[in-house]
Order: sequence, then structure tokens, then C-alpha cells
Amino acid sequence: VTDSWASSLDLHLELPAGGGRRAALERALRAAIRDGRLPPGERIPSTRALAHDLGLARNTVAEAYAQLTAEGYLRTSQGAPTRVAAGGDAPPAGRGRRATPGGAGAPAAPRGTPVRFDLRVGVPDAGGFPRAAWLRALRRGLAGVPDAALAHADPRGRPELRAALAAYLGRARGVLAEPDRIVVTSGFTQGFGLLCRALGPGTVAMEDPCLHHLRAIAPAAGLTVAPLPVDEQGARPDPPDAAAAALVTPAHQFPLGATLAPRRRAALVDWARRTGGIVIEDDYDGEFRYDRQPVGALQGLDPEHVVYAGTASKTLAPGLRLGWLVLPERLVAPVLEARPLVGGDTPVLDQLALAGLIAGGAFDRHVRRMRQRYRRRRDALLDTLAGRRVRGVAAGLHLVLDLPPGEEAPLITRGAEEGLALDGLAAYWHDPKDRPEGLVLGYAAPPEHAYAQTLAVLRTSLPR
Ligand SMILES: Cc1ncc(COP(=O)(O)O)c(C=O)c1O
Repeated sequence: VTDSWASSLDLHLELPAGGGRRAALERALRAAIRDGRLPPGERIPSTRALAHDLGLARNTVAEAYAQLTAEGYLRTSQGAPTRVAAGGDAPPAGRGRRATPGGAGAPAAPRGTPVRFDLRVGVPDAGGFPRAAWLRALRRGLAGVPDAALAHADPRGRPELRAALAAYLGRARGVLAEPDRIVVTSGFTQGFGLLCRALGPGTVAMEDPCLHHLRAIAPAAGLTVAPLPVDEQGARPDPPDAAAAALVTPAHQFPLGATLAPRRRAALVDWARRTGGIVIEDDYDGEFRYDRQPVGALQGLDPEHVVYAGTASKTLAPGLRLGWLVLPERLVAPVLEARPLVGGDTPVLDQLALAGLIAGGAFDRHVRRMRQRYRRRRDALLDTLAGRRVRGVAAGLHLVLDLPPGEEAPLITRGAEEGLALDGLAAYWHDPKDRPEGLVLGYAAPPEHAYAQTLAVLRTSLPR
């Protein structure tokens, strides 16, 4: 037991005598972590040492630690001391994530600065994952699955999941979906790779700005990328006539956050009908909307010219690697033919668990709960940014803070010095030269208990 721990003990762990000692210990530890008095990464004493110091049974302390670990406050790994979980339990900058803070075009965090606070875009709050419901659905799915389903994966995905998705997407997103037109994928990233192979060679129009790692997929599949400019009404609906496809994010443009204007929705569909091109609708965060009526899927306007693409990466967890494509009839066979080229099928048991989660209503309940959590976080972030220019706030799990020229890169560096990981806009432009600057602030990444502190660090990092 270190001296600093001893002082924390005196302050925070005055446990009342008598019953409820374990609960009191949990409360005290939670409070100390929330207040930042036990900072992220701090080692905490062994159960033996703490039990001795507090006059508790060792089991009581172990149970309290297990509870706090399950809640995301503590991090345990075999053979290593128990520590306070980092903000989001994030890996050090640049490791284990798709993008370093600021993405490819922005400065990386100084070497060795661990990420303690994480406002990067792209991940939901993993602490909110519905573990118990998932386990129940998995157990039920496994108990009921015929042996044959374990022996051979259906390249379209499990029929149970396709049926559940067809019903859910029709109800919740206005997608016209038949189970036979659905192909389950390992996330949208794989789905886009499949589509590129099914559509190529040719040109794909991609929003400018857009998610950078998607921009790298098309050329790998033999397609040329053409930029599709974006303004406050979303993507411009005029891809080149010769383009095979246009990839758009109509519900919440990534990353700028506009909703595609109704006229442009119609114009894009007209483009596809006129030219024989395909609109690919990336509905990556369509379930999360706050200030407005839900915007239904563009696919509902014309399912023979629009591919609807969804993912579990924002609603559940990106680590699941689960997504789905709802395809025009003419693309079903080419997508299935491309499947072996991009790494094969999606694990059967995970599909069954998701099917059960959706069909049993637990998925809807989870999304509603997380929507409330993210709305609260968005509001707190807006308070922190009061008086500054922001956009894309009505939906999704991120918003954009506009910055004057020359401020983006220094701000990311300043944040990194404080252990705060930030994404800038630069990486998302097709060519970042002379493009508007800003931060893309993902407010879903931190665990609940670290969020207030994360915003406090952001506040001190921002220019006055
Ligand atoms: C614009 C966009 N599309 C799609 C996705 C989802 O990709 P995947 O399903 O491969 O995790 C993300 C996730 O970060 C995203 O930001």
C-alpha cells in the first residue's frame, strides 16, 4: 500500500461499521475514481493488503473489485496489479485503433503519451454493451441451432438473422428488405469491399470528406475514386454519369454531420435510375437521432437502385464485426461470388445471438437506453463548447467543432500532451490542402465515469 493510496483511504474509504461493508467499499472506490482522485492507470492495492488495512474479509474486497471491474471502473489482467481503468481503457495513441489521434493527416500524439481521455470518433461506449442480454441470446441460439448450421455457413448469413433484420430494418429504418436480399457481413468495411468487387472496374464517387479507410478500399478492388463534394445539405447529388456507384451517408454525413436534403435524396435516386449506377447508403449511425424526426432510409425510395448498408459497430460494438447489406436483386449473386475474396463468412454463433437480441426486443431496448446516454453526453459537450461553431449535432455519436486555419494540428498536439486523444478533420478530406479545419469529437468513446473529466480536459485544451 503506497503513501498516496493511504491518503486516498483516509479521505474516501471511511466505511461505516456494521452491515453493507462491501457496498460501502464499492461506493467509496467509485467516488474516488469519478472525482479523479484515483486517476486512470493508478495501481490499487492487492485484495490482501486492502482487506488488512480496512479490517475486512479478503473475499469482500475481491467481490468489490470484481463488481467495479464489471462496471468498467477497474482493469484487471492476469498476473498484473489491478488498476483504475483508463479513459475508455483506450490503447496508447496510435495502437489498436484504425486511426491515430487526428487520423492519417494530423500529428500523432507525442511518443509515449498514454491516452487517458478519448474523444476520438468511431467507437460507442463499450461499457454499455448489453452483456447479459447477449449471453442469453447466444445461449438460446446455440441450444436451438441444428448441427448442419454449424457444419456449413450460409454465405448470405443465418436465415434467423436475415429474417430478424428484415423486420427490424423495415420497422425502425424504413428499409424495404426481404431476407433473400440481405447479406450478412463482417461490418460495413467488408461489405464495401464486397460491393467494390461486385461493381468494379469503374469509378465510385465518395463524399469529400469521408471516412479515410473506406477511401483506400475502392482502389484495392480496382475502382477509381471520384470526390463528391459535401455542403450543409449533405452530399451533392451529381456523381459523374459514368460512375458505377456513389457511396453516401444520408442520415448523418460522415464526418460533417449534415442530413441529406429531401431534394437531394430524390436527385441521387434519379441519377442512379438515369445512369444505371448504384447508390450505396452507409447508415452507420442512423439509430441515433436526438433533435428531429427520424430520417428514414434512402433505400426506401428505390430498393433496386440503392444498397442499404448497416452495422452493429455503433449500436453494439465494433469488435463484433457484424454488418449487413440489403441488395438490389441484380447485385446479390455478384456480391456472393466476391465473398471468398474478402475473407469469407461471418461466424454463425454471433449471428444467432444478434438474431435473438433483435427478435426478442432487447436490441431496441438497448438502443433506446444508449440513445438517452448519448443525448446527455452530447448536451454536456455542447455546454462545454458554448459560443463556438459546431455542426452535425442532431444525430450520431460525434459532432464537428469548426476551427480557424492553423488551429487544428496544434490543438490535437496540445490535447495529446494532456493524454486527450482527438481526431481532426484533415484525414477525412480527399486532399486536406486548404480545406476547412476542425475537430471531429466522438463523445461515445469514454466510459460513463470518465466522461465529465474528459470534457474538463477538453475545456482546458481549447483556445480561449
Ligand atoms: C462512416 C462510417 N461508415 C461505416 C462505419 C462502420 O464500419 P464497420 O461496420 O466496418 O465497423 C463507420 C464506423 O466507424 C463509419 O464511421
